[in-house]
Amino acid sequence: MYFVLLVVLLSALLGGCSREAGDAMTTINLEDRAQGKVKSIIIRGGCFGCHDVNEHRFGPAWSAVNERYKDDPEAAQKLFESVKYGSGGKWTAVSASAVMPPNESKVNDTEIAAVVEYILSL
Ligand code: HEC
Repeated sequence: MYFVLLVVLLSALLGGCSREAGDAMTTINLEDRAQGKVKSIIIRGGCFGCHDVNEHRFGPAWSAVNERYKDDPEAAQKLFESVKYGSGGKWTAVSASAVMPPNESKVNDTEIAAVVEYILSL
């Protein structure tokens, strides 16, 4: 039952965010790429409404995020705070003045840490 609700919510989200029909298919492929437990966290967090793993969308590609932070020893902490409390002004070259709203109402601290670990493993 919960899964059905999730699918309905995801469909509504995709419908709302899609600029063209191809977007929905892209997102399904992205879900396949995000394996294991982070997959359900990412779906519930609605991250793919704005992000792609390899392409810039509304937000930066997560592979580009990994590229920028991979040598930063504080990367996990910085990204954790960005995802939890929101972020703006760090990715103006690809996201212009777009900001990421806080995600703390959708995903908890453990879940955010798991997704950040996933992003830094790309
Ligand atoms: C409403 C759109 C939106 C949603 C939903 C969204 N993001 Fe973002 N995200 C953005 C934008 C825009 C940026 C670039 C912000 C900036 O320039 O600082 C960003 C940046 C990021 C960054 C880089 C932050 C940094 O400090 O460099 C990470 C990591 C990230 N998002 C992960 C996530 C995760 C995980 C989720 C789901 C829980 C998520 N995003 C949901 C739009 C979104």
